[in-house]
Amino acid sequence: MTAPQQVNQAPALPHSPRPIILIGGGGIVRDAHLPAYRKAGFGVAGIYDLDASKAQALARDFGIPRVYASLAEAVTAAPQDSIFDIAVPASAIYGILRELPRGSYALIQKPLGETLDQARVLRDFCQAQEITAAVNFQLRCAPYVIAARELIDRGILGEIHDMEVRVTVETPWHLWTFLEGIPRLEILYHSIHYLDLMRSFLGEPRGVYARTVRYPGLDKLAGTRSAMLLDYGDFLRATITTNHHHIWGPRHQESYVKWEGTRGAIKATLGSLIDYPKGIPDTLEYITLDDGRPGEWQSIPVKGSWFPDAFIGTMSSLQRYAEGSAWDLPTSVEDAYRTMALVKAAYQSSAAGGIPILE
Ligand SMILES: NC(=O)c1ccc[n+]([C@@H]2O[C@H](COP(=O)([O-])OP(=O)(O)OC[C@H]3O[C@@H](n4cnc5c(N)ncnc54)[C@H](O)[C@@H]3O)[C@@H](O)[C@H]2O)c1
Repeated sequence: MTAPQQVNQAPALPHSPRPIILIGGGGIVRDAHLPAYRKAGFGVAGIYDLDASKAQALARDFGIPRVYASLAEAVTAAPQDSIFDIAVPASAIYGILRELPRGSYALIQKPLGETLDQARVLRDFCQAQEITAAVNFQLRCAPYVIAARELIDRGILGEIHDMEVRVTVETPWHLWTFLEGIPRLEILYHSIHYLDLMRSFLGEPRGVYARTVRYPGLDKLAGTRSAMLLDYGDFLRATITTNHHHIWGPRHQESYVKWEGTRGAIKATLGSLIDYPKGIPDTLEYITLDDGRPGEWQSIPVKGSWFPDAFIGTMSSLQRYAEGSAWDLPTSVEDAYRTMALVKAAYQSSAAGGIPILE
């Protein structure tokens, strides 16, 4: 077995990257999409945003050759083999997909619509129009996640019986004004990454127990803190807890994913979420049994981070699928639909409440 220290942390790249057409040029495009593509050497042919000044500023800062005045112009001017990279609020996705030529390739920012009904419409539309579409669930491609998956595939954990995501941070919700007034927030827009991640490691859960709660005084925001337990039967505990209002400074902020098995454990800290969007370095550690007893925790230096490196992975997987160098599309709209179904079930569980205590 290769030494765990030598574990791969980077996604496979396409042989001949296709040009990217950006639709939407907001915060995530500036902070993650474009820095990732620059790092990977992917070419962006043009950009369109409803707010032309944002598109122009990004074009200037990242050397994008064309700013389109309309979506129609973006579609017409796009080279034939382009990948459309859609990064707009969920409510705007359908209007954009409808303008894409039949047979296009598209990477869509999560979530896949605001509800499961919308997700179904988007998925079915892509199928009907033969649009090959993936959803940008890029946490699956964060360097520490790629490494953890490889270690797990090598069998160092034995049987996994525990997977935990815990986030205690101060999230600047005010950066996303489109979140104000929407009925579903934290699970749909943030924890959805963890639900998707758990599905990618553990498969489909039988069900979910969940509760999401609001923060006092934030009248415009729906639930911003959540606790969820995915039901994988009697021997596997899978939990997600997020507190985005830990306003008490960095000392007790934390954000990690941990996998525990019968023969070892892996813990990755997600530095990107601390002091977002600046972030702090990530860490990756593992431990295994040594002569039947726990050895020492070992550190693996993390190369890159969730933001922006993971964004190389989701774009690469669609590019590779498009060029035929990969046979599957892990975050296809069909797969993303199942994550959306889990989101819906979580909100249903939260609304239904716990078992009343009768005495
Ligand atoms: N880790 C992640 O995957 C991650 C992180 C942050 C945001 N996001 C997602 O990315 C999307 C955008 O988030 P953001 O932070 O960039 O928001 P933002 O508000 O900063 O930017 C959204 C941009 O979309 C543009 N826009 C809206 N409708 C449009 C349309 N019909 N055509 C063209 N442009 C349009 C707006 O003008 C704005 O510039 C959201 O769906 C969000 O959930 C994902």
